[in-house]
Formats: sequence, structure tokens, C-alpha cells
Amino acid sequence: MHFSSCLCALLVALVYQVSGMDTVIGLYGETVEVPCNNGAPKPKDLFMTKWKYDDGDLLTQLKDQDASVIATDKYKDRVSMAENSSLLIAAATLKDEKTFTCMVVAGADISEYPVKLLIHKAPTGVEITTLATELEIGKPTQLGQCSTSDANPAASITWFKNKKPLVADGKGIIISSNVKVDEVTGLTTTSSTLQYSAEKGDTKALFTCGALNTLSSPVSFTVTYPTERISLHVISKGPLMEGDNVTLKCKADGNPPPTSFNFHILGKVVKVENSDSYTVTNVTRESTGEYKCSIIDNAKMEDSKNITINYLNISLSPSGKIIKSFGEGLALTLQTHASGELKVSWTKDNGKLDSSPKFDKLTYSDSGKYEVVVTMGALIKKASFELVVEGVPVIRRVAKRRGEDGQHKVLTCEAEGSPKPTVAWNVNGTSADESPYVNGKITHKLTIVPTVNLTVVCTVSNELGQDTRTINVSTLFEEVRMDKQDSSDEGDTTKLVVGVIVGLLLATVAVGLAYWLYVKKSKQGSWKTGEKEEGSTEESKKLEEKIEEKLEENSQKVEV
Ligand SMILES: *[C@@H]1O[C@H](CO)[C@@H](O)[C@H](O)[C@H]1NC(C)=O
Ligand SMILES: *[C@@H]1O[C@H](CO)[C@@H](O)[C@H](O)[C@H]1NC(C)=O
Ligand SMILES: *[C@@H]1O[C@H](CO)[C@@H](O)[C@H](O)[C@H]1NC(C)=O
Ligand SMILES: *[C@@H]1O[C@H](CO)[C@@H](O)[C@H](O)[C@H]1NC(C)=O
Ligand SMILES: *[C@@H]1O[C@H](CO)[C@@H](O)[C@H](O)[C@H]1NC(C)=O
Ligand SMILES: *[C@@H]1O[C@H](CO)[C@@H](O)[C@H](O)[C@H]1NC(C)=O
Ligand SMILES: *[C@@H]1O[C@H](CO)[C@@H](O)[C@H](O)[C@H]1NC(C)=O
Ligand SMILES: *[C@@H]1O[C@H](CO)[C@@H](O)[C@H](O)[C@H]1NC(C)=O
Repeated sequence: MHFSSCLCALLVALVYQVSGMDTVIGLYGETVEVPCNNGAPKPKDLFMTKWKYDDGDLLTQLKDQDASVIATDKYKDRVSMAENSSLLIAAATLKDEKTFTCMVVAGADISEYPVKLLIHKAPTGVEITTLATELEIGKPTQLGQCSTSDANPAASITWFKNKKPLVADGKGIIISSNVKVDEVTGLTTTSSTLQYSAEKGDTKALFTCGALNTLSSPVSFTVTYPTERISLHVISKGPLMEGDNVTLKCKADGNPPPTSFNFHILGKVVKVENSDSYTVTNVTRESTGEYKCSIIDNAKMEDSKNITINYLNISLSPSGKIIKSFGEGLALTLQTHASGELKVSWTKDNGKLDSSPKFDKLTYSDSGKYEVVVTMGALIKKASFELVVEGVPVIRRVAKRRGEDGQHKVLTCEAEGSPKPTVAWNVNGTSADESPYVNGKITHKLTIVPTVNLTVVCTVSNELGQDTRTINVSTLFEEVRMDKQDSSDEGDTTKLVVGVIVGLLLATVAVGLAYWLYVKKSKQGSWKTGEKEEGSTEESKKLEEKIEEKLEENSQKVEV
């Protein structure tokens, strides 16, 4: 109460200066209050209060009585008086914008308080209609029409882009407004059209318009613009190599973006529709050169790239499988044609070689699979050949050895040759053993028990020829003497053995002789008893026999 009366006083004071009369504002369609004498308390000696306007009296109130309506016109059913003497008018319209006068009779005084009534109405909603379908950058386009209706006083419309007001500048932004008054209600409809030249970045801009405190729903537009930038991209991992597929991709801006392009492939134009890529398959070094792409309707809008195709060719001689003879030479040539720096490495039978192989004089160990790997960056080329060294087998050594138990002999035949030679002996034996065939070498062993002196022949042979060697093997019983002749090392041992045996023999003979002489003397001597003599004679006989046996054994041994 207190607050609203204060507000009234302020409003009245403001308006007073201009019009010289109290003014109140009521809302359209509502019951409006027109205060009497600015809401001042009733005088003590109040006799009558009366409200009237230009066309006549509206209502009166006598002291201590109810107010009575006098009006007979359109106000008859719409006016009433409040306790505090305010005039209340129901369902206000713009036609109520008049001056109403409150007449107060108090005592002998008659006072009149005219009040000007204004009716305001806020617009009913704001909306944007007749939207542009799209905006083209730089081209003035009527973006839309904003309208707000049934307002009093007439509403003014403001356009906003991203909540910031747009100010007409006569160039990019042109705003024209139009106000219409409804003949019946007197309310106004304001409409405003915005002509706008879009800029880049307006694609996501939100446009709104507002009147008083009401904002329209936001609208946005597709912003179209022609291609301004084009770029050609080469899609590849790492440097391009011969045999690669090179995909070219053309990127262009513009909205909508172009869907077709011209690709210039080494001077030849290829039109690509509904795609931005073109693939050149299986490129060669001749594919090195300048590539371009452009948009169909503007050949000046183009981009180019120089593409270099790297290449690496190698040729190795010899190749495949080659067969060479032992002792021959082999020339090796590796030719390379490449666009960059190369690394060369060799392997033989998958083992790394320190340097490239050289074959001045082939040996069996040179046989194998040789591979060269040439790399240039990520590009790898390989070449290989298989070398087979062949030769007639040759026996390098024939040897014999007495078995550890002295009961057999082990013969060894070592040979070299390729293809793998077969080894044969002219004698039958046991535990024939053949070493693995490595680097053309093979070793064959045979165990025999020679019962007679043998001339043993080892024969090695392959497709290319054969070789033989003989070795004399004496029978095991004559080994000692044979060994003495064969080997000086073994002979020394034999001499020692023979010496020891002879020594032992002589010693035994000497001891035996001494004992025999002693026994003989005892028999002849008188100082021995007969009994003892008899026993002694028998004992000595036995001993003699034993000595003879021993002597025989020894003499047999000497014969061995
Ligand atoms: C007069 O009374 C009415 C209703 O009782 C009230 O709404 C209004 O604010 C009062 N006016 C003044 C000026 O005090
Ligand atoms: C290149 O493209 C062809 C055909 O599309 C395909 O057969 C070939 O495998 C591709 N080559 C490479 C290296 O991707
Ligand atoms: C690529 O081109 C080379 C020579 O131009 C040809 O030898 C090769 O077969 C081609 N490869 C493919 C997959 O077409
Ligand atoms: C490609 O090479 C040509 C000739 O060397 C040169 O004129 C041109 O400018 C180069 N283009 C690009 C995109 O580097
Ligand atoms: C090089 O190698 C490619 C494929 O590996 C082949 O198409 C081309 O003919 C070779 N060129 C020469 C000069 O050997
Ligand atoms: C080896 O034995 C076979 C039969 O087992 C025999 O025919 C051959 O004559 C023997 N050779 C020698 C050299 O004793
Ligand atoms: C065996 O050879 C040895 C010499 O190596 C010779 O003294 C001996 O008489 C020979 N024995 C036989 C039975 O031929
Ligand atoms: C083997 O003995 C024979 C005679 O018995 C002899 O002629 C030949 O030279 C001997 N061979 C070797 C390798 O000692």
C-alpha cells in the first residue's frame, strides 16, 4: 500500500511537469484505478465525492452512503468507486484514455482533481517470419521479418546476433520498420525487416529480435560461400616407392564444399565426381613429376605438388643354382640402380657374412645359398643364388690304429669330394661308422680283426670319379714287431717292454740256478739228517719242475 502510493506520487510528479496534470497508466484489459487527489486522505468534513469526465458524470458518493452510478453510457457497467475514493474502471481499452475529474465537496469547499488516464499494453509475443533459406557471404539478403502485435504504445523492435544488438549501418545491416494500427482496438503491430550481408563465421550465429522484454526464438542460417582455398595432399606412409599406389586428396573449403574435382596427373586431366580423391596405382620412376587438383568451375582455384617416386633395382649375377668345379674361380657382380643411398648385406645359408663373398679358388665349403639384401630406406630388394662346388673325390688320409683291448684294429679313410662320395673297403669289418658330410669332407671308420697280414684298400667314389689308397695291416699276433717297424714312438715302448721281460727272465734264471746249487751242496754235506735229506730231495724235485715250467713260459713270450 505504502510502496505503491509512493510510486504513484513519483510517477505523478514526473508527468506533472510535462502536462501540468496528474497522469496514471493503466493496463489494457485490466481494471484500472484512477486515484482521487493523488490518494490523499479524505477530508474530515467530506460531504460528497463525484467522478466525471468530458461527456458527463460517472458516479457520486454522499457521506456515509454507498456510491451510486450515474453514467448511462458505456461506463454504466464498468465503473465503481473504492473505499479510498479511487475510480475503478473494469476492462480498460484504449478508448478509456481520457481525463477523469474527481470532485470533492467538503464543508464549503469544492475541489476538482483532474487525472489523465493512459492505457498501456505490452506486445503479445515476438516472432521472426519469412526467413531466408540461406545466406551467401557478402550478398545482402533479407534475413527475415520480426513482428510483434497489439501493443500500446507502439513497440520498437531490436535485432540481435548472438545476443548483441545489430545496428543499421546502411551497408551490411539495413533495418526497416513498419507500424500498423488496428482500426478497432487502436493497438499497434510493429514489424521490422533485416537485410543482412553474411560474414564468415555466421554459420552458427543465432539471430533473435526483441521488443520490450520479449525475445523471439533464435533462428540460424546456412551460410554459403565459394571455394577460397584448395590444397592437394599426397596420402602415403613414408617415401613413395615404385609399385606403390599413390592417393591424391584434394581439400577445398566453401559451403557447400565442392564435390567434384579435376586432377592433373602429369599433364593429363582426370575429372573425379562425388569424391575428393584419386589413386594412381603401381607408380614407377616415370611417375615422378607435378600433380595438381582444381575445382571444376574455376581452374584458377588449384594446388600442386611435386611427387618423387623412389626406385631401387638390383641385379645379381650369377643367379639360380650354379654348379662349379673344385678349384675354379667364380666372378660375382651386383648391379644396383637406385634413387638414394643403399645398404648392402650378404648372408650365406642364413648366416650373416662380414663382406661380399669372393671366389678365387672354390672349395667345398663355399657351397651354399647366398643372399644379398639391398635396402634403401624402407625399400628392400633381395637376390640370391645357390652355389654347388663339385669335384672328384680324393682320399686325404688312410690310417690304422690298434683297438684299446688289443683285439681289433680300427681303419680310417678320410676323403674329400662332392657330390658326397661313397666309401668302400675291400675287407669285411664291423662297426662301420661314417662322419657327417660337411664341407665336402667325409671320414669313414671300420673295425677289423686281422687274422692274416692284409693289404686293405679304401675306395671313394661319386658320379665324377674315384680314388683309392692301400694300407698294409699285419695280423694281430705280429703286432709287436710290426708296430716296432711302423712307428718309432710305438717302437720305443716295445723296446722297453722287451727289455723288462728279458731282465725278469734273466733274474729268474739266476735265482733258480743259485737255489739249485745250494740244494745240491746240502745233499752232499754230512751235517744234515737222513730224514731231512729225503724230504729235501722230494722238495727239490718239485722246485726243479716249477723252474722248468717258468723257463718255458718265458721262452714262449720271447717268441711272440
Ligand atoms: C485505494 O484502494 C484500493 C482498493 O482498496 C487500492 O488498491 C488502492 O491502492 C488505493 N489507492 C490509493 C491511492 O491509496
Ligand atoms: C594397388 O592397388 C591395386 C588395385 O587397387 C591393388 O591390387 C594393389 O594391391 C595395390 N598395391 C599396393 C601396394 O597397395
Ligand atoms: C607394376 O608395373 C610394373 C612395370 O610397370 C609391372 O611389372 C608390374 O607387374 C605391375 N604390378 C602390378 C601389381 O600391376
Ligand atoms: C615442381 O617442380 C617444378 C619444376 O621443377 C617447379 O617449377 C614447381 O614450382 C614445383 N612445384 C611445387 C609445388 O613445388
Ligand atoms: C626396376 O624394377 C621394376 C620393378 O621392380 C621393374 O618394373 C623395372 O623394369 C626395373 N627397371 C630396370 C631398369 O631394371
Ligand atoms: C665279405 O663277406 C661276404 C659275405 O658276407 C663275402 O661274400 C665276401 O667274400 C667277403 N669279403 C672278403 C674280402 O672277405
Ligand atoms: C706279416 O708281415 C710281417 C712284416 O710286416 C712279416 O715279418 C711276417 O712274416 C708276415 N707274416 C705272414 C704270415 O705272412
Ligand atoms: C705292402 O706290402 C707289400 C708287400 O708285402 C709292399 O710291396 C707294399 O709296398 C706295401 N705297401 C705299403 C703301403 O707299405
